[in-house]
Amino acid sequence: MNLEELSQLKETAISEAKAASNVHEIEDVRIKYLSRKGVMPSVMKNLKNVAPEDRGVFGRTANELKNELTTILATAKDSMASADADASDFDFTLPGEWKNTGKSHPISMVIDSVVEVFSKIGFTVAEGQDIEDRYHNFEALNTPMYHPSLDQLDTFWFNDSQLLRTQTSPVQIRVMESQKPPVRIVTPGRCYRRDTTDATHSANFHQIEGLYVDENVSLADLKSVLAYFAKEVMGKDVKVRFRPHFFPFTEPSVECDFSCHVCGGKGCRVCKGSGWIEIAGAGMVDPRVFECVGYEGVTGFAFGMGIERIAMIKYGIPDIRFLYENDARFLNQF
Ligand code: DAH
Repeated sequence: MNLEELSQLKETAISEAKAASNVHEIEDVRIKYLSRKGVMPSVMKNLKNVAPEDRGVFGRTANELKNELTTILATAKDSMASADADASDFDFTLPGEWKNTGKSHPISMVIDSVVEVFSKIGFTVAEGQDIEDRYHNFEALNTPMYHPSLDQLDTFWFNDSQLLRTQTSPVQIRVMESQKPPVRIVTPGRCYRRDTTDATHSANFHQIEGLYVDENVSLADLKSVLAYFAKEVMGKDVKVRFRPHFFPFTEPSVECDFSCHVCGGKGCRVCKGSGWIEIAGAGMVDPRVFECVGYEGVTGFAFGMGIERIAMIKYGIPDIRFLYENDARFLNQF
């Protein structure tokens, strides 16, 4: 080895020593350079082969390198030991510092609680898609082309056939197309309508849909399931009533009201004096819908309700827009 090679070695060795970032790496570098069979002792042994006029400088440089490596490694090891000592002083049982972690939005809270109530009686969650086609959102739901909801003014259309779904009902069709009966699902999700925003309307809102299909399912089953749901969300004193209604995809169709949770049915501002609050649309699945999905020999019921509406009733929120403004002063109350 000559002087030039030694100075190259010096550069590598020092950068390796400085790069060692844990006790194992430090020890590896020490063994490689400073141990008895390491690089430095063999460099020293090589001294006699160095040209006589260079020997002085070579010896001094090699010694300096050895000392420098020893110092770098010892310092690194010390600082690691003191870091360990700091860690061992730390009391892991102390309570942590409380950080604002965020929490569920009231819409999510309502969806979660509705899903939980239905999952207790065997309903599973099915998810659909926000971008739907005319067939699933309307036609297969027995909604004829001249129905006013297909109007350009009510629905966000992308083109002649694609649209933002106006209801969660198309998920019924997609589920029945993809599986045989029996079916017992709830499907929460976003819906879109070209409504002008005001205190009770939003162009983007959420619904949860339910579908129960099997042999011999009757209107009495629908009524008992919705009555069970009412008691779970509103408490055991709530009363439920059905009013005849019309939906294209159910026959007969009903609207389901819960007795007002504020006045208990006497009549107040919240229920506009009627004692009842409209909660869900529902009915027996129309045979035309079963025809579209190829189901035979079964009956079923379906229902759909607005999540925002339930949130507003449950939490006494006076204006739907609060739910979308992301104002922390509002959201922190839940
Ligand atoms: N899709 C209806 C709406 O948006 C709600 C609805 C009514 C859903 C009756 C149903 C049903 O499944 O049976 O107004």
